[in-house]
Amino acid sequence: MNLKDLYIDFFVSKGHRQIPSAPVVPENDPSVLFNTAGMQPLIPYLMGGTHPYGTRLCDYQKCIRTNDLDSVGDSTHHTFFEMLGNWSLGDYFKEESIAWSFEFLTKVLKIPKEKLAVTVFKGNDLIPFDKESYNKWVSLGIKEERIAKTEEDNFWIAGESGPCGPDTEIFYFRSNEEVPEVFDTKDERWVEIWNNVFMQFNKSSDGTITELPKKNVDTGMGVERTSAILEGVNDNYLSSVWKDVIKLITSISEKNYEGNEKSMRIIADHLRTAVFIAGDNSLIKPSNTDQGYILRRLIRRAIRHAKSLEIDINSNWEEQIAKLIIDKYKKYYHELEENESIILEVLRTEKERFNKTLEKGLKEFEKATRNGENISGEVAFHLFDTYGFPIELTKEVASDRGLTVDEEGFKEKFKAHQELSRTASSGKFKGGLAGNSEIETKYHTATHLLNAALKIVVGSDVHQKGSNITSERMRFDFSCDHKLSDEEKKQTEDLVNKWISEGLSVTVQEMSKSEALKTGAECMFIEKYPDIVTVYTIGDVSKELCGGPHVKNTSELGKFVIKKEEASSAGVRRIKAVLIDE
Ligand code: ALA
Repeated sequence: MNLKDLYIDFFVSKGHRQIPSAPVVPENDPSVLFNTAGMQPLIPYLMGGTHPYGTRLCDYQKCIRTNDLDSVGDSTHHTFFEMLGNWSLGDYFKEESIAWSFEFLTKVLKIPKEKLAVTVFKGNDLIPFDKESYNKWVSLGIKEERIAKTEEDNFWIAGESGPCGPDTEIFYFRSNEEVPEVFDTKDERWVEIWNNVFMQFNKSSDGTITELPKKNVDTGMGVERTSAILEGVNDNYLSSVWKDVIKLITSISEKNYEGNEKSMRIIADHLRTAVFIAGDNSLIKPSNTDQGYILRRLIRRAIRHAKSLEIDINSNWEEQIAKLIIDKYKKYYHELEENESIILEVLRTEKERFNKTLEKGLKEFEKATRNGENISGEVAFHLFDTYGFPIELTKEVASDRGLTVDEEGFKEKFKAHQELSRTASSGKFKGGLAGNSEIETKYHTATHLLNAALKIVVGSDVHQKGSNITSERMRFDFSCDHKLSDEEKKQTEDLVNKWISEGLSVTVQEMSKSEALKTGAECMFIEKYPDIVTVYTIGDVSKELCGGPHVKNTSELGKFVIKKEEASSAGVRRIKAVLIDE
């Protein structure tokens, strides 16, 4: 059985409920591009919210970390990875958490306890030594020499602020040499495999630390690393996670892995991540900003390395690799299968786009560096603007040849260019936006009606979790623990249409935030609103804090039709709906 299945089965047997992996692009958290840890989608619940699946949860979560994108190519770095996690939301704490981790490692994975070592929080001025964890490990038979007390590595927080607390990390001795008696955290033969965070605190953005209302456990174990360890390989890319992908690349390129490791690892890693980004339900496309830019960089870097392996770029090499990846993962992530044709299309079109200019760009590069010149900001920008070379790619090609790139100079040129195009586009799209806003305004109002209708039909504990409006449709995410029945969908639709036909007036009032809350107005994130807010009221069916704009009367909306109802993330459902003219 594979690691993911063993893990989930084990924690389910300890009373946990499995929750589905959240999308890799966070839906309601614009502060990060991607989910970087299993706990990220659970932040609202770690902060005290009630999770619809209960207080003991487990999952495997798709994660992407791009901070060391450029290190990919060695034997251990990946941009995409899966994180196994189990959580206690105000339920069990250190005792059970440590005991179960130990049981899973030694009984299920059958790792001898002599090959394990742990770290615990040593304590500092603010937070005391974590003696409960220390004592628990001793009681399980971990020798005191194998328990290191450290400070800086044993306090976990996702970023600058948020839920946090002391942690205990579990290490495995990844070597056939004799295991040293004393655990030295600097000895690289010891690798971390699991992290159990005991979330007791919240750190606010001004740095103050407060106790969380409920104490939680958050754990994380990386599938890639643990698989490599269990299989006894020192190169992650030789474990069962990657083996067949690397094998396919060797057969497409007709080259051996030995001697070509870097390019093959980059192709395998980057295409896998690209498959997961393009196949996420957020349907990101390659672009020059945010997630789209990461997707573009990954695909283009993979293409350049395929080229350096002399793979015929015009063949369907990328499709073969992507299909193998989709096949490997679709059992766990159904969206990959559902979005297969979209994924393949994204890869193919981006390849064609880049392929047209890659060759010429590389020639231009050679020309500019004929006499060993370094790359100026101007040349780097020219390569970006005319040949589609992400700056990171130019840097990599330069570094392969021992040259440097003037990045500052590039940034200046880039900024000047952005300003020009912003001015141009604001002129160009003005008309379009004005045209769209009328229908978008209608969708805004329909969103309030839908929110109110769901509360009546499905239950008063339905809360808005997100919304997104385009000129084509509205999308609405809400907390709910079950798939809506056809009956519920129909009743919701009918109720919204009834309110539309009643011609309810929509009024707006300005008031202070506290006053607004007293009136019982709905809102999603109260802390995000300014002190003075606007409250929109629709007849006597809805009252919400909202920036608007809205129609004046519901009779302007047309007919409301639910097009789709689906899962969005754990405990969150998503409705897509349209308004049509009757
Ligand atoms: N959230 C913790 C981590 O990423 C478990 O290590």
